[in-house]
Amino acid sequence: MIFIYLIIALVALLYVYLTWNFNYWSKRGVPGPKAKVFLGDLPNGIMRKQNVAYDFQKIYKEFKAKTPFVGIIQMRDPRLIILEPELIKDVLIRKFHYFRNSEFSDMIDTEQDPLFAKNPFFLKDDEWKEKRAEITPAFTVNRMKALYPLIQDVSTRMVKYIANESKKSKPCDARELAAKYTTDVVSNCIFGVDAESFTKENAEIREMGRKLLSPSTIVFIKLVLIGSFSILKKFMKVQFTKMEIQQFFVDLMKQALKYRDENKVQREDFLDYIIQLRNKKHINELEMASHTISFFSDGFETSSIAISHALYELANNKRVQDKLRNEINNNRDENGQLSFEKLQEMSYLDQVFHEALRMHPPLVTSSKMCSENVDLEYDGKKVTVEKGINVYIPILEVHYDPENFLEPKKFHPERFDDGAMKDYVDRCVFMPFGGGPRICLGMRFALLQSKAALATIIGNYVVTVNQKTQDNPFVIDAAEFLNIKTGGLWVNFKPLN
Ligand code: HEM
Repeated sequence: MIFIYLIIALVALLYVYLTWNFNYWSKRGVPGPKAKVFLGDLPNGIMRKQNVAYDFQKIYKEFKAKTPFVGIIQMRDPRLIILEPELIKDVLIRKFHYFRNSEFSDMIDTEQDPLFAKNPFFLKDDEWKEKRAEITPAFTVNRMKALYPLIQDVSTRMVKYIANESKKSKPCDARELAAKYTTDVVSNCIFGVDAESFTKENAEIREMGRKLLSPSTIVFIKLVLIGSFSILKKFMKVQFTKMEIQQFFVDLMKQALKYRDENKVQREDFLDYIIQLRNKKHINELEMASHTISFFSDGFETSSIAISHALYELANNKRVQDKLRNEINNNRDENGQLSFEKLQEMSYLDQVFHEALRMHPPLVTSSKMCSENVDLEYDGKKVTVEKGINVYIPILEVHYDPENFLEPKKFHPERFDDGAMKDYVDRCVFMPFGGGPRICLGMRFALLQSKAALATIIGNYVVTVNQKTQDNPFVIDAAEFLNIKTGGLWVNFKPLN
C-alpha cells in the first residue's frame, strides 16, 4: 500500500514540477495557448511528427490579430514569441543590448566542441564582439571580387555535371545539386582544394559536410532537454559534432597551410585572410581551425538550401524564369561571361533570390536570450521580459503575413522592385539574414555564390519541376533544424542550345 502512495506522491510531484510555470504568463497578463503537460506549446519540437515551424504557424495564426506578443511554455520553460514588427525591431536593434546573445550560446561546451564554440553564432557578449570584428574584414567587396573567379570555376563544373545528368533523362534533386555546388565553392574559397563533389561518388568533403551539420539523436535529445529545462544548461553540454569530423577539417586546413607555405601560393581567399590574422594577431592553430570550420559550416548549407528553393520557384514560374534569362543574356560580355560587377548590377536576379528567401528562409525562427530584465511595449500592451527568458522571432510567419506582403503565397519577385527591399528590411518584416548587429556575417558571400549559381543555371538551361516533386506535399522535414523540404526538390533541366 505504501508503495502505491509513494508512486501517487511521485506522480503528483512530477506533475507539479512539470506544470509549475504554466501560469507564468497568465499571472503577467500575457495571452498564450494552453500548454500540454510535458509537451508545452511546441509539441512538435519533441514529438517530431511535423517540423516545429508548424507549431509556430498555428500560434501565429491564432494570436496575431489579438496581441503583439504571446507567452508560451516549452516543455516547462516560459518563452515569448514576438508577433509585431515594431517589437522585432526592439529585440534586434533598438534594445539589442538586452537580447545580444542567442539561445544556443550557453549550450555549447568549449571543451567538447572547441572549434564550434568559437563560431560567432554561438559566442556571447565581449567574446562575440571581438570575434565578429576579427572576421568581418574577410567579407569586404574586394575580397568577394577576388573570390569570384574561383566561384566561376565551380559554376562551370556544375554546368558540365548537369549536362551529363540530363543526358541520363533522370530528374535531378536541386537540393543535392546545390549542396555539391556550395561544398565545392566553400572548399575552394577556404582550403584551396577541389572537393570534387561533381565528379566523385560520395566525395569525402561533401560527406563530411553532411555529417558536420547532422546532429545525432543523442544531440537532439540533449537539445530538447536543455531547451526545455534551462536549468540543465549548467550541467549538460552538447557536442554538436564528433571529434573525428572536427579533426578531418583541422587536417584539411593544416594540409592547405603547408601547401601554401611550401609552394609560396598567393590567393586572396579566406585562408589567406586567416593567415594574415595569424601573422598580425598571433592567433593559434586551434583559433585558425575554428575560423575555417565556421566559414565552412555556415557557408554551405544555408546557401544551398536557398539556391535550391530559388531553382524550385523558378522551375514553377516560366514568366519569371524567362524574364531572368533575358536579364542574364543582356549582361553577358563578348565571351558570354558575367563579370562580378554585372552580377551585382542585375536587379531582377537580386529580386528573384530575395523573393525565394522570403518564401523559404533557411532559418525559420530566430531566438534571442534576454540578458537583463527589460520592458517591451506596443499599442498600450506591455510585458517585462525577465533575464534568461528566450524570445522567438517567427521569421517564416512574418514573411507570410498578408499585412506585411500582399498575396504572400505568390512568388512575385517584382514586390522587391524600386528599392522596396530597404523598406521591408527597415520595417523588420523581411529578415532571412536576421537583423541588427548580429545580422548574418556571411550575407555578401551568400549572395555572391547563390546568384552566381542561379545565373549560370538559368543562363544555360530551362528548368521545370519534375513530377516527383509535383506529387509530393511541399512540407518542411520534421527532423530538420533548417527549412529543408521532405522528399527533395526534383527538377528537370533542358539545355538551351
Ligand atoms: C542564404 C544564405 C544564408 C542565410 C539565409 C543566413 C541566415 C542567417 C541568419 C538568419 C542569421 C542570424 C541568426 C539569428 O539571429 O538567430 C545568420 C547568422 C550568421 N551567419 Fe548566416 N546565412 C547565410 C549564409 C551565411 C554564410 C555564407 C556565412 C559565412 C560564410 C554565414 C555566417 C553567419 C554567421 C557567422 C552568423 C552569426 C553572426 C553573429 O551572431 O554575429 N551565413 N545567418
